Amino acid sequence: MCGIVGYVGDRQAAEFLLDGLSKLEYRGYDSAGIAVYENGKIRIEKSVGRLAALREQIKGRMPVGSLGIGHTRWATHGRPSDVNAHPHADCHGDFAVVHNGIIENYLSLKEDLIAKGHEFKSETDTEVVAHLLEEVYAGDFVAAVREVLRRIEGSYALAFMSKEHPDMLICTKQDNPLIIGLGEGENFIASDIPAIISRTRRTYILGDGELAVVRKDGIQVTDRAGQLVTKKVFEVTWNAEAAEKGGYEHFMLKEIHEQPKAVRDTMSQRITNDKKAISFEELAWNADYLNSFNKIYIVACGTAYHAGLVGKYYIEKLARVLVEVDVASEFRYRDPIVDGSTLLIVVSQSGETSDTLAALKESKRRGAKTLAITNVVGSSIAREADQVVYTWAGPEIAVASTKAYTTQLVLFFMLALYMAEIKGAILPARTAELVTQLQEIPSQVSEILSDVEPIKTFAKQYGFNEDVFYIGRGLDYSVSLEGALKLKEISYIHAEAYAAGELKHGTLALIVEGVPVIALATQRNVYEKTLSNIKEVKARDAVVIGIAAEGDTELQKYVDHVIYVPATDEFIMPILSVIPLQLLSYYAAITRGCDVDKPRNLAKSVTVE
Ligand code: G6P
Repeated sequence: MCGIVGYVGDRQAAEFLLDGLSKLEYRGYDSAGIAVYENGKIRIEKSVGRLAALREQIKGRMPVGSLGIGHTRWATHGRPSDVNAHPHADCHGDFAVVHNGIIENYLSLKEDLIAKGHEFKSETDTEVVAHLLEEVYAGDFVAAVREVLRRIEGSYALAFMSKEHPDMLICTKQDNPLIIGLGEGENFIASDIPAIISRTRRTYILGDGELAVVRKDGIQVTDRAGQLVTKKVFEVTWNAEAAEKGGYEHFMLKEIHEQPKAVRDTMSQRITNDKKAISFEELAWNADYLNSFNKIYIVACGTAYHAGLVGKYYIEKLARVLVEVDVASEFRYRDPIVDGSTLLIVVSQSGETSDTLAALKESKRRGAKTLAITNVVGSSIAREADQVVYTWAGPEIAVASTKAYTTQLVLFFMLALYMAEIKGAILPARTAELVTQLQEIPSQVSEILSDVEPIKTFAKQYGFNEDVFYIGRGLDYSVSLEGALKLKEISYIHAEAYAAGELKHGTLALIVEGVPVIALATQRNVYEKTLSNIKEVKARDAVVIGIAAEGDTELQKYVDHVIYVPATDEFIMPILSVIPLQLLSYYAAITRGCDVDKPRNLAKSVTVE
């Protein structure tokens, strides 16, 4: 996720660009840059760090000009640095481009362009767009952009400027948001409404494949085929704060709803072209490497630790390697048995959690091979680990982690499949089947999110006032732990998760009339066993809400309510079954009037011990 802005008019472009970017920092904040048409040239100023660093860099020497584009970055390809910051230019500085998304075929395009003599400055996928534009340009800016779009694959929102066309910007999008703000004698481009709301409330929302030529006195929108599109003006009625949350009441809800895209982006480029297998170019593992270790440790904190528990199940079951999972604060002080034959996987959304970082350093010192799963490119953990795979969830702002968790699960599943393929522990047909199911996840998550009313009602109806119990077996147990944590952290309700089979060893004593129990029953191999445990709590008059796969007709006979999620392979169920649990927590917290995005006593990133 990144933020894009553009300006064309009579006022100073840089002022709007910087102001607009400041409203988009929630979309990314590891570097920022602007390009302004100044004295017959495109002047680019960019800097690693937050927008303040860029402001400092150009203090007293602001670019002067009334056409420009800007960008606030959340790194995907290439670590956060001055050169990797956008805008990017071609060899001669004739064009500048800003991009939000991923150009999937950038490597092959880059090789071609290098062979043709183009010189690249950055490690980004975006820079190929600028060079490609230079390559195909023959005097017609719009035609050249169209040709570029024909050659690139992936997701994007793009804005372009050309030295030879100082009166216009071109922008287009595919799978990433882009809007145009309509002013008087000036127009604006932005990834999102907060960037323009102080200047205008009249907007065009660009559709996929649409291309807009934006001048100060007019906007022409065409479709992929070049046909004119008549856009309806969308009048923004929200205030600036609501706009930043995309119209959602809280970042947490927005992030819950971003999960289909976050999951899709995380899978992208890791599924082979024939869609039958998994490949991690960034790892390039082989059988010798995998056979060089006899144990894997997964170490993390909080939600990331819960993702690790699911990861253990995936890796053991699919790749048949022994995995231990530990919370980082315990692991680092318990003299763990780690040596050259250990692979340590650390999981961290922020990449900055101090205990996780310390566990990583300690394991490296003991000779382990290390891999980081993180959401922040260039974070301390990403830099410290031998290898890193990124979740492409985009910035997560709410303290309670949601989209980071689901993308961590997706990555673990893909990693386990990848390991199983290399070790020959899985039949190619089975891999292909699972990869097919994997690709269904985004639409299945969307389906769950399309009807949240029953979940809202349960949250209100039961009030969830004192104690809530979550039970499940196998993968359902791991998801229960995450469900209970979500409820605790944002609604301050005491919640505990138990392996369903463990209930009778003590906790059953706490189950009395009216106590809410959330029972997950999505795993076939332990289904009957879970059902017996559900009957046990029902016999003590608990109120049971079951979570089951569509098509399950059994569970409803034994519980008070069932929340159904789409049926899929059991491995994948956790990625779906956690969504209603996130929503239940969210609505329980709302019912209780809690500060959802900033729960008491908790921080997003715990960088101290
Ligand atoms: C904090 C956050 C949690 C997060 C945990 C680990 O406690 O509130 O949401 O799961 O840290 O953070 P990390 O960035 O390492 O995933």
